[in-house]
Amino acid sequence: MSDIDAMIAQLESIRQQAQQDFAAAADSEVLTALKVKYLGKKGELTGVLKGVGGLSVEDRPRIGQVVNTIKAELEQVIEARAAELGAQADAARIHAERIDVSLPGRVMPRGALHPVQQGLDEMTAIFDRMGFMIAEGPEIETEFHNFDALNIPPEHPARAMHDTFFLRDTENGEPMLLRTHTSPVQIRAMQRFVGDGHEPPLAVVAPGRVYRCDSDVTHSPMFHQVEVFKVDRDVSMAHLKGVLQYFLSAYFEQEVPIRLRPHYFPFTEPSAEVDIGCVFCAGKGCRICKGSGWIEVLGSGMIHPNVLKSVNIDTSIYSGFAFGLGVERLVMLKHGIPDLRLFFENDVRFLRRMGA
Ligand code: PHE
Repeated sequence: MSDIDAMIAQLESIRQQAQQDFAAAADSEVLTALKVKYLGKKGELTGVLKGVGGLSVEDRPRIGQVVNTIKAELEQVIEARAAELGAQADAARIHAERIDVSLPGRVMPRGALHPVQQGLDEMTAIFDRMGFMIAEGPEIETEFHNFDALNIPPEHPARAMHDTFFLRDTENGEPMLLRTHTSPVQIRAMQRFVGDGHEPPLAVVAPGRVYRCDSDVTHSPMFHQVEVFKVDRDVSMAHLKGVLQYFLSAYFEQEVPIRLRPHYFPFTEPSAEVDIGCVFCAGKGCRICKGSGWIEVLGSGMIHPNVLKSVNIDTSIYSGFAFGLGVERLVMLKHGIPDLRLFFENDVRFLRRMGA
């Protein structure tokens, strides 16, 4: 065998071995290493060319050609194998990352508004729809706003009846307390309104927390009220009754009969307590309404002229009505909640059932 035939046979065996190796390469790293091994600068094909010096001048180009042909062919084989390995890797990754879109989603635990907050929101929204402006006032109040301006002078027995939490702090020497009702918001809203240079009409709804030093089965030291009032020319008890009738029927989502009973509040004159026909027995008389067919729900009246005077509203032109209701009580009546304490124990079973 001539030298050239021996070299061609050697190249052929390299070609075959390379093809086998490329086909068997398990991943692209192995393939790259094989490419260096066979086709690299110090690779096997180049290695064969080292013996080219011993060939005749005519044979040299032939060998060069054979090497180039093999090189080109092997490069194609590598490329094809690389593409194959790439597709395999993609398929493996896609398989590993697959998700089962038919599985049910994870349920996100979702909180709910406390039933008292729901009640506050519902009540406030009804007055908002009627055109009342929403106002809030501080829970830490002055004696002036909580009592004096509301026509409750220091020696007045109503002051003692309010079971007030007094604070050690004072504001400009004035005793501070936790407000015992939302009526001081009447004073603050009217003061601001008049101070800003406005003239009535003024219609306000004021929801909020109030405090009384009183705690038993039907009383909590902290509870919620919604205060509502309107000041304008020619406001009468008829307006008061109309607004109450509309509000109570809207809140209870049924026509509820109402009645006004004469009462006394220092800040209203005349004053009335308001009853609704018992929502449990439709007025027939039951345990909840103690057989009377009526349930007391709020206090109301025509704003006392002294109250309007305390904020410089001209009582020869303007009059107003006001009422204040206990939120917990109305929520209990609407939803048949038997015990006030359920609102404050925060038993999640109760809160979940009431949640909205
Ligand atoms: N502030 C009174 C209370 O807490 C309720 C009320 C408000 C009565 C407005 C009349 C007018 O008992």
